[in-house]
Amino acid sequence: MRKPYIAANWKMHKTIEETEEFINAFLPMVRDITDVDILVAPPFTSLAAASRLLKSSNVILGAQNVYYEEKGAYTGEVSPGMLLSAGCSCVIIGHSERRQYFSETDEIVNKKIKTAMNNNLEVILCIGESLDEREENRTFEILDTQLAGSLRDLSLEGITIAYEPVWAIGTGKTATKEQANEAHTYIREWLRKNKDGADSVRIQYGGSVKPDNIESLMSEPEVDGALVGGASLKPDSFAGIVTGAIKK
Ligand code: PGA
Repeated sequence: MRKPYIAANWKMHKTIEETEEFINAFLPMVRDITDVDILVAPPFTSLAAASRLLKSSNVILGAQNVYYEEKGAYTGEVSPGMLLSAGCSCVIIGHSERRQYFSETDEIVNKKIKTAMNNNLEVILCIGESLDEREENRTFEILDTQLAGSLRDLSLEGITIAYEPVWAIGTGKTATKEQANEAHTYIREWLRKNKDGADSVRIQYGGSVKPDNIESLMSEPEVDGALVGGASLKPDSFAGIVTGAIKK
């Protein structure tokens, strides 16, 4: 069985002080949880401080983005080596907000995953269709394109997939558990057809996950966890999601 995996994507929220406050409150709430892998992804500026507080805890530290070059004249970018030295072991790549506002293509996402993997960073790869694409019945076609482009020439070692329908992100409109499971099943089949080791890849659902809908989502066989934005910003809310993710 795949171990449930719950990740917090804080996006552009929290200063260093707010990060420390969150972690100090959150760690005691989840200290005894061993049945769920837990990750927090603060903004870059908070990573080093978070890493100090998370040391020898059961919470993994991740970043929200990375550049695909190892070093050089790329003003404002952050390399995989910098993430490692800040204490990260994982990075979120290809979030729909990166694709939408920062023009990240599948080709860029693919290059970023390659560089992350070369540096032994684990990856949460985000994919998902927009509302228009769903209404035009193009969900599977979009997933196909994103998976093929993002995972070109790559193995599945160290990869988690986050299925995040864009219309459900930050809107309060969660996909139904059936919709999530249907998309996850499609992704699983795609991975089986095209790569080795598909059955051990965890597929998280993302999009308006909250303490009161996580249990129902996790009751679906292909939902292995969640990538959580808004509801991960408060310690008790995120702890509620982690607890609710323990498979019954
Ligand atoms: P949300 O964001 O939980 O606020 O909908 C999810 C995400 O963007 O990863």
